[in-house]
Amino acid sequence: MERYYFDHNATTPVAPAVIDAMLPVLRDGFGNASSIHQPGQQAKQALERARRQTANFLGCSPKEIVFTSGGTESDNLAVLGIVRPGQHVVTTAIEHPAVLAACRNLDATYLVPDARGLISPDDLRAAIRPATALVSIMHANNELGVVQDIEALAAIAHDGGAVFHSDGVQAAGKVPVNLKAIDLYSISGHKLNAPKGIGALYVRQGIELYPRQFGGRHEQGRRGGTENVPGAAALGAACELVRDCDGLAAMTARLEKGILDRVPQAVVNGAAAPRVPNTTNIRFAGIEGEAMVIALDLRGFAVSSGAACSSGAVEPSHVLMAIGLTREEAKASIRFSLGLGNTVEQVDALIEAVAASAAHLRRLSPVYA
Ligand SMILES: Cc1ncc(COP(=O)(O)O)c(C=O)c1O
Repeated sequence: MERYYFDHNATTPVAPAVIDAMLPVLRDGFGNASSIHQPGQQAKQALERARRQTANFLGCSPKEIVFTSGGTESDNLAVLGIVRPGQHVVTTAIEHPAVLAACRNLDATYLVPDARGLISPDDLRAAIRPATALVSIMHANNELGVVQDIEALAAIAHDGGAVFHSDGVQAAGKVPVNLKAIDLYSISGHKLNAPKGIGALYVRQGIELYPRQFGGRHEQGRRGGTENVPGAAALGAACELVRDCDGLAAMTARLEKGILDRVPQAVVNGAAAPRVPNTTNIRFAGIEGEAMVIALDLRGFAVSSGAACSSGAVEPSHVLMAIGLTREEAKASIRFSLGLGNTVEQVDALIEAVAASAAHLRRLSPVYA
């Protein structure tokens, strides 16, 4: 059976060009980038090349890039590297757990989006207090694909005297970003066709960031630990991949329209907001998302549902609940996320499989009439 992957917001396949860039560093460039001998200097060169590639991609200076182990560490470092005891943070109810959990023991205000998934600038303005050190608002949401106007939100944070961080893990490479307007920006390699275990945090020059991982003076004292040079080389190469966002947007629109045309009582979550070109989140009345994920997997398609397994129980997504969906609606939602390698033929095959699976599951459903 052919297998087609439509879960690129969970993770992406490593691109062949990225493997080609990483392998020589793994094989021959084993030196420690802090060593002064030749193998060390060779590793240092590979690391700094990757830093330049990552900076070019984001539109910042290489000095403003801190390599990390991924999106989670970048988010943790941004939050906990800025907010001191007694200070306040403003974030949103739809952040990834990498931000939400980092805020758990802080004095935090969680902004709730509207039904489209958008954060209101007025709500942000009202939430900022003199003690607010940081505002952290994600650029694109991983489940809905909804894109916030982070430049406008950052301006409000700055007016209130706060530093502005954005989790750009799902936005980087999909929508443009103007880093001049913001202070901290997280990215993750494995969402960009590089391997897991590498990411970066952009830290605007002049922002004072306390390290969260203590050790040597690596990454200009901002993140201790011998650098993952092969990982960085892979991220650098991934930053240079050509990404056809218009093509992705056309395929996502085709998928969305195809499903809505073929399946009654299907509704796009977050449809009224600007979205990244690769994501659509659709709820199917009367269908358990998990059952749909399994039905599609049996037909060879990988997608994900609006629910997560937590302590053995299937819990509806906090993001879908935050935009006002009921538990049942959230649990009836499926995320389709496209990426490099998907084709129009695959999209058409997915539409057929979704239509057939939905009809089958509804026939079995005791609640769907
Ligand atoms: C929006 C967002 N932030 C952060 C992360 C965490 O990134 P990583 O898996 O690299 O730790 C993810 C991963 O799904 C994400 O989607």
